[in-house]
Formats: sequence, structure tokens, C-alpha cells
Amino acid sequence: MKIFSGSSSKLLSGAIVKHLGIDLSPIEIFVFPDGEKRIRIGEKVLGQDAVVIESTGMPSDQNYMELFLIIDALKRSGAASIKVIVPYLGYQRQDHIFRDGEGVSLDVVTKILEQLGTSELFSFDLHSAKIPEIFTIPAHNLSALSLFAEKIKKDFNHAEIILVSPDMGGIRRIKEISEMLDNLPYVTINKNRDLDTGDIKDSQLNGDVRGKTALIIDDIISTGATIVEGANLLLENGATRVFAFATHGVLAGDASSILEKSKIERIIITDTIEVSKENQFPKLQILSIAQIAAKALKT
Ligand code: R5P
Repeated sequence: MKIFSGSSSKLLSGAIVKHLGIDLSPIEIFVFPDGEKRIRIGEKVLGQDAVVIESTGMPSDQNYMELFLIIDALKRSGAASIKVIVPYLGYQRQDHIFRDGEGVSLDVVTKILEQLGTSELFSFDLHSAKIPEIFTIPAHNLSALSLFAEKIKKDFNHAEIILVSPDMGGIRRIKEISEMLDNLPYVTINKNRDLDTGDIKDSQLNGDVRGKTALIIDDIISTGATIVEGANLLLENGATRVFAFATHGVLAGDASSILEKSKIERIIITDTIEVSKENQFPKLQILSIAQIAAKALKT
């Protein structure tokens, strides 16, 4: 198995191959002055199983394009199979038509990946459990929830905590982690997001959080609005402390400073998306999904 890293996932790729006890295979990603890229696979892959690791967070379009070009180069070099690990699958939130006239971005991405010759796809905590069904190739929805459950067991007193899904879309996720934690109680928030402006308003809390340390569990932190608004609602309703866990730290725009200034005590994400130095902040803690990804490649 030869493993290649795209430019968005170098640290994670290094950690994954370390778990597998192999080296990353060489790849040249040349960037022309106008931003176009030329890919060259640096060693023979003819008849071999190849793996590409490339997350497609911001800038999603560029990262996707680079991933497509790498798959194409591997195909043309005769790789027998091409598995892709896309730890964060960009465009997954537009996985169906919400309003008349919209396109289905995820369907576009899926078609290109398949058309190029991808054999199998691995991703983490997909926004909807149905996403793998959109693919005709095997698509695996790995999860970081076990990492969060371990951390919660280690760092918190079970009697004092309550789990929180910050929207109704996260109900499957919150049930899953609650089961991992011996059916720890959870509450949900009815999040109201205006699809035109993206603003969240008039959200409602379902359940009692008085006197509890609330742990929000989400898949994505993009602008931070969902968890910050959620935290405010929880504190207004009597929660004593709020922590937030999310698999993917997209951290768009001013999210990092908004989160640092928020009432949330600590924000725990994973390395599905590499967080730049500028986007890191004191309250942020990053867990690694490398071992989970390595194990999935071995099986
Ligand atoms: C939404 O359904 C997702 O699960 C996340 O809650 C959302 O994408 C987070 O976005 P933001 O941080 O911009 O509120």
C-alpha cells in the first residue's frame, strides 16, 4: 500500500503512516503562478494499492481540485486501486435540495470522485448518516465520537454533566455518544436558522440543564454561531458551565476569536482539518483521529 498526502492534510497523513509503520510516498504538487497545479506521483504505483489523504475544508474548491488531480495522476500511473481518505468531506451539508432551484453540491463531488476511478472512500462523522448511500463505491463513515467519549470519561464527573445536541439534526449523534457513556442523559436544542441570512434566532431548549455542566456535541464548527448561541441558551437556562466538542473545526471567518471570547470554557475538535497557527486559540484542544483512520485502512 502506497500512501500519498495532499497539501491540506500533511500533519494528519504523517500521523496515520506512523501508526501503520510505513513512510509517505513522494508526490510533487507544483503550483503555477496563476494557482493551477500539476501533480506528479514520485514512485511507481503500477498494479499497487494507492491511498490519498486530503481533507476538503477551506479552501474547499482548491482542495477538491487537488484531490481530483492526484486521483487522476494515480489512475494514469496504473494504480490497481485508489482509496481516498477525506477526513472532512466538503460540501456535505448540501446533500439534498432544501429549496426549489438549488443544486446538490455533494452529488457533484461524488460523481467526479467516482468518475475519476476512486475505489473506496473514508470520511469522518458525516453530516447525515445517509451520505454513504449517495456513493456507488464503498463509502465509510468513521467516527471521532469514541475519542470524545474517552475524554469525557477521563475529564468530567458523570453526575454533574448533561450532553447537548445543538440542533435536531444531531439527534442520532447524541444518542450514540450517550450510549457510549452508559446512557448519560442528554437534551436537545431546536435551532432555527434562517436559510437566507444564515442567522440563528429564537432557538428553544428541550429539557432541564439546571446546575449541570453542559457538553455540546456537534459535527462541524464553522462560524461558531451554533455552539455559541447554544451555550448562551444553556447558561440562561441554568447550566453552570459549557464545553463543546465537534469533529470538524472548519473555523470560518472570525470563528476563532468569537469562540475564544465566548462563554464556552473549552472547545475540543479533531485534526480532520488542519488548524493553521493563526486560527489556534487558548481554549482550543485538538484530538487526533489518526489511529482510527490507520485501523480502517488495515481492515
Ligand atoms: C449544522 O447542521 C451542523 O451540524 C453544525 O451545527 C453547523 O454546520 C455549524 O455551523 P456554524 O458553526 O456556522 O453555526
